[in-house]
Amino acid sequence: MTNQFFHASTVISHGKNHSPKQIVKVPSEIGPLFVGGATVSVALTICFLWFYTDPWPDLTRTQKPISASDGITADDCNTPPSSASNLLLDPPNSTFYDDPTLSYSIEEPMQDWDEKRREWLNHQPSFAADTDDRVLILTGSQPSPCKNPIGDHLLNSFLHPKMRSYWAKLPLIRAAMVVHPEAEWIWWVDSDAVFTDMEFKLPLRRYKAHNMVVHGWPHLIYEKRSWVGVNAGVFLIRNCQWSMDFMNVWASMGPQSPNFAKWGRIQKSTFPDKMFPASDDQSALVYLLLKEREKWADKIYVEGEYYFQGYWVDIVGTIDNVTESYLRIEKGVRRLRRRYAEKLSGSYAALREPYLKKAGYGKGSWRRPFVTHFTGCQPCNGDHNPLYTGDSCWVGMERTLNFADNQVLRKIRLHAP
Ligand SMILES: *[C@@H]1O[C@H](CO)[C@@H](O)[C@H](O)[C@H]1NC(C)=O
Ligand SMILES: *[C@@H]1O[C@H](CO)[C@@H](O)[C@H](O)[C@H]1NC(C)=O
Repeated sequence: MTNQFFHASTVISHGKNHSPKQIVKVPSEIGPLFVGGATVSVALTICFLWFYTDPWPDLTRTQKPISASDGITADDCNTPPSSASNLLLDPPNSTFYDDPTLSYSIEEPMQDWDEKRREWLNHQPSFAADTDDRVLILTGSQPSPCKNPIGDHLLNSFLHPKMRSYWAKLPLIRAAMVVHPEAEWIWWVDSDAVFTDMEFKLPLRRYKAHNMVVHGWPHLIYEKRSWVGVNAGVFLIRNCQWSMDFMNVWASMGPQSPNFAKWGRIQKSTFPDKMFPASDDQSALVYLLLKEREKWADKIYVEGEYYFQGYWVDIVGTIDNVTESYLRIEKGVRRLRRRYAEKLSGSYAALREPYLKKAGYGKGSWRRPFVTHFTGCQPCNGDHNPLYTGDSCWVGMERTLNFADNQVLRKIRLHAP
């Protein structure tokens, strides 16, 4: 388990907007990923260059006044208007947004969310297509300054004053579902998790019959009764009524509940390997899988077949071999050495796939890990788990971020391959 806090949302370059702090929809099974600490820094650089070199160097030659809608025109540089969503239209038809009693707070149960969402989508025909593949990524960091001088200094706030640290993500997800009815999935990604395969797509078809996807190991949940039977730092949750109900129950073990202390004791007595007394979100999730299995478990996909999130300790030592293996493949396949537009990464992933047949997935494989999670490293406060000696966390993070960054930078090569 790790620090999972809240604030911004990071995402993905699928449209023309590369603002790294913006939530963007991601059609078609997550296209080329543009996320992760490393890539975000690239995006930031690009973004700032764009802002600072853009249109108003000579202020004496003032032209048209700048209007708020300037940023959402589709006709600059003669690009054809996007056939996707119409962001200029919000039809007057009343929806749940017009209901003054509807609350974004996790403390107010949501009713009939599926109908409300469907109705909103009905008024937004341009959003109606490909809804199933739309994923919104959320991440977050603590809203207070980091003790660690190399930590995150961007401040923000909690959405629920009592739901702090690892509980903070629940009210955020709840609110994000309401703010993003167009998104089918919310993908929570802890701030200490790094995307380390820029070509991999979430296999959403696999999760069609499920409402939540979490990395875990069924025998640890159901036989060992371990609070680390899943990792709650990265998960997908469907934007639907089931999730609203599930999060209500899940959050009822949180610090805003009068039963918080009681839940801490129950969790500690349920999970022999849980050492600390406070009720935490991950134990709460495992508890619901274990004790309310009939009610919830058939809709929760416990993924363990690839690095939906991977433990950095298992991964960092393999990075050089993975890099070399991919380079060896590219040496033999001219088409993989071509330069191409980042948006086409998916087709190059398909081209590469036959050569990765023997790579395997997850632990022990030489495939690029999808998500490398620095569980226990706590990059913000610097108090990493004493299990990790010396600077292994920092060295590991640096190597991993470079590994991810290099995949992005390869697309920005200055020289022909
Ligand atoms: C939305 O409102 C417009 C204008 O009042 C109306 O013509 C239209 O039929 C409504 N659409 C739906 C789907 O109710
Ligand atoms: C390194 O990668 C190769 C494939 O290129 C694989 O056969 C080998 O087992 C890997 N070695 C280790 C130590 O993982």
